[in-house]
Amino acid sequence: MMKILVFASGRGSNARAIFNAIKDATLSNVEVLALVSDIADAPALKIAEEFGIKAVFIDPLRKGARFTEESEKHYIEFVEQHNPDLIVLAGFMRILPETFVSKFGLKTINLHPSLLPAYKGLDPIKRAFEANEKQSGCSIHWVSNELDGGAIIAQSPVDILSTDTLETLEEKVHKAEHKLMVEVIGNLSKNFS
Ligand code: GAR
Repeated sequence: MMKILVFASGRGSNARAIFNAIKDATLSNVEVLALVSDIADAPALKIAEEFGIKAVFIDPLRKGARFTEESEKHYIEFVEQHNPDLIVLAGFMRILPETFVSKFGLKTINLHPSLLPAYKGLDPIKRAFEANEKQSGCSIHWVSNELDGGAIIAQSPVDILSTDTLETLEEKVHKAEHKLMVEVIGNLSKNFS
């Protein structure tokens, strides 16, 4: 069994895709140890509870994209206590500190809604749409100290049609994300007995 921690800050649709895939045995070799959020009222926490999965808010102790040194320790301690095989950043909107990345980066994957290296950072779908790109999409990559910059594991392109609005494009990208997330986790879980 591959044991995972899921980190999510918001809506949690990718977390839900993972939990559903475990439930219907598409992911038959994966166990979720907990869902962790940096936002106290993140819908993702409720989704985990709905699936009977431990849902934990760990206070980042400050606003913005980073952690305080104290909260950084809480995150590291939590991961060490749970000792996961894989950490999945599924819409986790904070920059992990270097100490975290040096300890766990080799077993942490991040989902990003663009065809990296294009459109790193915030609002990538909107920026690709407004730049009249022909394609958008999503990427899953290993986490490194460069934001959205680690080695790419898999990508899924999504065509931007002249009939697309930002909303229809976002919907298509999210659908592609859910599929890619389950595929990548499934492939990584093959390394575990
Ligand atoms: C997803 O689109 C994910 O790619 C993005 O946040 C969204 C979370 O959606 N992540 C990033 O932008 C990370 N840089 P969800 O909460 O519905 O899974």
